[in-house]
Amino acid sequence: MNKILTPWSAACCFYILLGCNGSQQTNLDQKSSDTMNTSTNRGITLTQQTFGKYDQQDVTSYVLMNEKGMEVRIMNYGGTITNIFTKDSSGKTGDVVLGFDTFDGYLNKDNPYFGCLVGRYANRIAKGQFSLDGKTYKLAKNNNGNSLHGGLKGFDKVLWSATAVGDTSLQLKYTSKDEEEGYPGNLQVEILYTLTPNNELRIDYKATTDKATPVNLTNHAYFNLSAGADSTILGHQLLLDADRYTEVDKNLIPTGQLPAVKGTSMDFNSPRAIGMDIMKVAGGYDHNWVLNKKGLELKLAATLYHPGTGRYMEAYTTTPGIQFYSGNFLNGNLTGKGGQKYVQHAGMCLETQHFPDSPNQPSFPNTILKPGETYTQTTVYKFSTK
Ligand code: GLA
Repeated sequence: MNKILTPWSAACCFYILLGCNGSQQTNLDQKSSDTMNTSTNRGITLTQQTFGKYDQQDVTSYVLMNEKGMEVRIMNYGGTITNIFTKDSSGKTGDVVLGFDTFDGYLNKDNPYFGCLVGRYANRIAKGQFSLDGKTYKLAKNNNGNSLHGGLKGFDKVLWSATAVGDTSLQLKYTSKDEEEGYPGNLQVEILYTLTPNNELRIDYKATTDKATPVNLTNHAYFNLSAGADSTILGHQLLLDADRYTEVDKNLIPTGQLPAVKGTSMDFNSPRAIGMDIMKVAGGYDHNWVLNKKGLELKLAATLYHPGTGRYMEAYTTTPGIQFYSGNFLNGNLTGKGGQKYVQHAGMCLETQHFPDSPNQPSFPNTILKPGETYTQTTVYKFSTK
């Protein structure tokens, strides 16, 4: 894999800069799941509680809190972010991601990837197949004859093993076996979720393989910064630092063209209300924007602002693309937290990623990870008010 593979050590250095303590590792899964375990580090606490059962095993919810009152809950099923509590400009706390109050909600077959980790390949691979080193690999198809978000049982539907790293981070590990969902190679995946004192949720992804394989990892949190006050995100103002996007066909498969956004409904180079032009985009926004960047540096990719509450979010990432999905397939059938009906556009995703279908698009940045290389990606969601 090309320069996309930056050393994991670089990410670790960043934690040290942030003041995180990586030396002390505790296996949270070994602790009694009904007891709240609390420890502190620079004002951050990490606690845990039982959230449900899956495959006869406990599903645990890990709760990261900082002194500013930001709280993030992540469960080991799907590595899913279930809650992000942040304050609005009047100091009122609210949950800014969609999801369910109980674990069972997440098992609903219509759960549209709320908050989960996505892999082995986030987004679509056309016709569920690709060729590598002269061999054609056939993947599990789950989306109009294509493979979406890793196939029928992607990384969002497995139990990850969880370990606390210091008190500010939760490490999740999963081994995706050779041929799982049709992908080649045993893939060792490690995710590190970190809460910082500055209201940042940082996600570091890392993977290694024993056979060449495509890899594209992301998180699928649905944001609504109004925290339940607005039923949709159409009034949110979005900025995307991208001059181009990957054009797609009617099944959302890239055509290979990268049209300019300037002056079109896809132009978010200045903050703009999402609802302003959404009706002009067939089906709503569900596209990958090509981020303006030189390489794989951690750089601001998107900002999101909710005028009613003053909540503001910045998304920084190392990835070359970002999928802005405006919750088009939500249709009011799902009842989420606090009995909310999740209507169309109730939440939106900013999935930091490689371009969709890269294994079949030679002109797109490389997504093939080879033995001996390390895949990394880092994304930071930073919350504030203005
Ligand atoms: C991604 C896809 C969408 C949709 C959602 C999940 O964002 O691009 O088309 O499949 O996931 O509902």
